[in-house]
Amino acid sequence: MAYIKDEEINAIRDSADIVDIISGYLSLKQRGKNFLAVCPFHDDHSPSLVVSRERQMFNCFTCRTGGNVFTFIMKYENVSFVEAVKIVADKIGYNLNITDINDYTTKNKEDYEIMEFTKKFYLNNIFTEQGIKARKYLQERGIDEAIIREFNIGLSLDSKDTLYKLLNNKKYNIDKISDLGLVNKVGLDIYDVFSNRIMIPIEDLKGQVVGFTGRIFNGETDTAKYMNTKETEIFKKGQILFNYHNARKSIREEKCAIVVEGNMDAIKLSASGIKNVVALMGVALSKEQIDVLKKLKVPIILMLDNDSAGLDATVKNGDLLDASDCDVRVVRLTDAKDPDEYIRTKGVDALKDNINHALKYIDFKLEYLKTNKNLNNMEDLITYIKEVISSINSEDDLTKELVISKISKDYEIDAEILKQELNKMPEQKIKEKPEIKVIEKPKLSKYQNAVSKILYSMMCDSTYITVYKNRLGFFKEKKERMLASEIVYYNTVHNNINIADFITYIMRDEDLSAFVNEIISENNNTVVSLDEFNSCVDVVLNILKKDRIVELKMKIKQELDVNKKLELIAKLTELKKEV
Ligand code: UTP
Ligand code: MN
Repeated sequence: MAYIKDEEINAIRDSADIVDIISGYLSLKQRGKNFLAVCPFHDDHSPSLVVSRERQMFNCFTCRTGGNVFTFIMKYENVSFVEAVKIVADKIGYNLNITDINDYTTKNKEDYEIMEFTKKFYLNNIFTEQGIKARKYLQERGIDEAIIREFNIGLSLDSKDTLYKLLNNKKYNIDKISDLGLVNKVGLDIYDVFSNRIMIPIEDLKGQVVGFTGRIFNGETDTAKYMNTKETEIFKKGQILFNYHNARKSIREEKCAIVVEGNMDAIKLSASGIKNVVALMGVALSKEQIDVLKKLKVPIILMLDNDSAGLDATVKNGDLLDASDCDVRVVRLTDAKDPDEYIRTKGVDALKDNINHALKYIDFKLEYLKTNKNLNNMEDLITYIKEVISSINSEDDLTKELVISKISKDYEIDAEILKQELNKMPEQKIKEKPEIKVIEKPKLSKYQNAVSKILYSMMCDSTYITVYKNRLGFFKEKKERMLASEIVYYNTVHNNINIADFITYIMRDEDLSAFVNEIISENNNTVVSLDEFNSCVDVVLNILKKDRIVELKMKIKQELDVNKKLELIAKLTELKKEV
């Protein structure tokens, strides 16, 4: 694996101005030396994200997310560190000729390695003699070799434990493979979870294979059509949208995202040139999935199956997305059970036409509420109107006005009456401001406050490192000592320090990285003066001495030897004088 040198990463970081980069994503307003924006990492409407050009970093004082330009891209684009470096390099026109960079921020490295290896094994199988039937099945569904390779569609062999033996040969731990959902242990017996199925890899948002879904293809009737990887440490269905990583670029280009129900629908659409498509990983979208879709800041087109379950899921997910302020559109297909079949029977152009004529969610909802009602019947009509009023309660004023005037015309009801009905609705709006996750600032003790200022100043300016080394050189907590020694080390190696590059460096240690983040949000881009720094050092020294006094007193109590006791007492007197 090739390494990208820290120097190169720092050069990219240094040539990129964080204010320029972030302003490509958020609207920034200058406030003194800093820039302010509405933070995209928590639900909010007032600006709480501070971007500092001077320090080349950002932090949100509400949700306390912070870091340098790479951290921002990683979080905003849901990408790994390496990809973030590539994206930044690309934006500033830096020629980065490295294809494979050591991604030291990747947790669970071996897990991904195993999944990647398994994916390649399955893919290889499908092109062997044993894969003929599977390939024929896919061919009949319009999935040719190019698509097979694009989606890495593979085959699990019709055998008990081929995959297990292979992974075992590679010395992967059996418990690990079993935790990843690839093999089952039953007593002493071990067998592959997937056999004789067409295997579709499922990637997380960053594009790493985290699981599989396996489809039968021999017309079996005694088993589920699809079998999926169980929830594992790296495979969390609620955090994934199938094909998201592949589709991201095209979603940005097409300025909309299509959501379908089945993996096969996503593959088929993508194969037909409609690449801005993701598939649900279950029936209802999770909060995390909604956040991912919302962050795309494009209209979301729901194109789910043409059955009652698909209709229910459209309403359920439509309501959820709508309540999260997404621009939702709906396509309901006719004469085919799902988009895959629609393409097969009517062609991709007909499908595109449907997509181009997707209904705005409110229009869909008004139609949907009519189902199973006879609007010539007074009772049904009243129910309908009440339901309509209830569903526009969360919409903006213009939508409310338009719907009311339409209903008023369609059913010859006085608009004023409808408005009165609307006003009677409980104040509480569905689209109420989402709960803002304010991370309580932990109350810092005098000691912690001093340490935070000391460490922050040291990360920003090497002058403070010298003072720290000369006067203090020690902290109470291990975490604090570790960070201090990393700072000192960094400064020695680079002969200088700046916080933006130090953030990159410390990313390889998750705990320390989180600690640095806390320190950043505690210090609000402010480095104390040298005098204040010295006072902070005094505070820490004093507390260390007090601790030492307590410790000595304990020892004196326990000491039985009179001479030694006297020695300790002398020490104690001296220490007390110093404090
Ligand atoms: P569908 O039955 O609509 O799948 O189920 P599909 O995409 O049309 O599949 P094909 O065309 O028959 O191959 C939708 C989704 O529900 C899950 C799968 O994720 C599938 O993509 N599912 C379905 C299962 O997990 N298990 C099943 O047995 C069936
Ligand atoms: Mn289908």
